[in-house]
Amino acid sequence: MSRPDVEKSKKAAAEKAVEYVVDGMIVGLGSGSTAEYFISKLAEKKLNIVGIPTSKRTEGLARRLGIRLASVEEARELDVDVDGADEVDPEFNLLKGGGGAHTMEKRVAEKAKKFIVVVDYRKMVERLGFFPVAVEVEESRKEAVIKKLAYLGGIPQIRDGFITDGGNIIIDVRFNIVDPRGLEDKLNSIQGVIENGIFSKRKADVVIVGEGDKVKVIKRENGRK
Ligand code: A5P
Repeated sequence: MSRPDVEKSKKAAAEKAVEYVVDGMIVGLGSGSTAEYFISKLAEKKLNIVGIPTSKRTEGLARRLGIRLASVEEARELDVDVDGADEVDPEFNLLKGGGGAHTMEKRVAEKAKKFIVVVDYRKMVERLGFFPVAVEVEESRKEAVIKKLAYLGGIPQIRDGFITDGGNIIIDVRFNIVDPRGLEDKLNSIQGVIENGIFSKRKADVVIVGEGDKVKVIKRENGRK
């Protein structure tokens, strides 16, 4: 049997997420292709909202579509944040950063009352780690960081020709992830690491999974309502 169309699945999840936004909200605008479907659909609704972009690319798109914007520093709290992910496990831990925007994505998600993740069905995994962990690193410290990453059992590879919005490099690291929370902390304690793409402290509250034109909404018990 053929698998459902991926773009259709992303769109279905993204469109469902728009239902969570109403007039007057401060809304985190994620990065990546699924988040961009959300932003386009949101703009069509012409709601009176303020968007908080998670990357320069998202900022540009939202601006072109006429969404009013503010920075994460300006917002004390967000009502909702809608973003994509590279992997989601059964505990609602996430791997993000395929687009290299995870540092700002995490900062925005941490300020959100509700963090909604929109994905296509391929992103649901039993355990994180099929994707490499994206680690944003100060260029000048890359040699020392690479050594530490290898010491922690990772297989690091510099993302070729990629510079983040913050002016840093990304090292993608393959790990056998058994303790996402522990690894998230360990990676961030390495000098020269800005942020990594494991979202285990700030998990998703709601995951919307698209599969063809169907969607499944999964809510985390104890998630922020
Ligand atoms: C951007 O840095 C990422 O965290 C994206 O949210 C993630 O890679 C998902 O992107 P897609 O929706 O394009 O798969």
